[in-house]
Amino acid sequence: MDTVHDHNREAWDERVRRQMPFTSTATEKDFQNPLRALDGAGWMGNSIAGKRVLALGAGGGRQGPLFAAAGAIVTVVDVSSAMLEQDRAVASERGLSLNAVAASMDDLSMFGDGLFDIVSQPVSTCYVPDVAKVFREVARVTAPGGLYVSRHKQPTSLQIDLKPTPLGYVLAEPYYRVGPLPPTPASPLRESGTLEFLHRWEELLGGLCRSGFVIEDALEPKHADPLAPHASWGHRGSYVAPYIQFKARRLASTDTNAVKLWAP
Ligand SMILES: C[S@@+](CC[C@H](N)C(=O)[O-])C[C@H]1O[C@@H](n2cnc3c(N)ncnc32)[C@H](O)[C@@H]1O
Repeated sequence: MDTVHDHNREAWDERVRRQMPFTSTATEKDFQNPLRALDGAGWMGNSIAGKRVLALGAGGGRQGPLFAAAGAIVTVVDVSSAMLEQDRAVASERGLSLNAVAASMDDLSMFGDGLFDIVSQPVSTCYVPDVAKVFREVARVTAPGGLYVSRHKQPTSLQIDLKPTPLGYVLAEPYYRVGPLPPTPASPLRESGTLEFLHRWEELLGGLCRSGFVIEDALEPKHADPLAPHASWGHRGSYVAPYIQFKARRLASTDTNAVKLWAP
């Protein structure tokens, strides 16, 4: 693993020790309807029973155990052993089965081609410099016709400060930046202690298409609150969406010019 991954692994291990945001395990309520808790948009259909699911960059004892409770055959990949330990603990408490693998999302060489029917990735591509590598690896391990559901930090949101100036929310960070974003204090937008990278729209949309996916749908989870106090998270969310979520389908061929679409 390289230095960015080492840094982020230690940062996330530490975040688990300190029980910081995004380290919470699934709740009792989540387990009442695990598929709904995982897939509010209904992109995965009515049942994922028996599907081979890769929960990528998804350690922490939430997505993995919920996929297992929904009947899937689950592999969780995460760079942080502390996050994976939570998956093992929740699975064991509930008598669920899952495979927890410590690896970086941009090197899935331990998995064969076309091994998964569904790859599900919560916000986590921001922790790797080159998102194209992640998409290439996901395309390789996804079966033809398989689904890749991923959520990302929206690039414009990463350019804008958390708090407004008298002129409003200002684009403070360059779009074509090189290297990680500047260090930040803890906020709902950025995870302090980690190295995070801005991925441009072209890298997200074009990268998915170039890797052999067709984008079938996209959502901007809404964090806008017109009644929220000035400068709060809900106020900021009224001006810029913090996240973007894609539903992408793996083409039958890696030759994206061939337009050999998946046929059911
Ligand atoms: C925001 S958390 C997402 C998981 C959490 N269960 C959730 O739903 O919020 C981001 C995850 O990405 C993981 N991560 C960071 N860098 C990674 C990498 N290079 N490869 C795999 N996982 C990584 C972190 O360890 C962390 O578990």
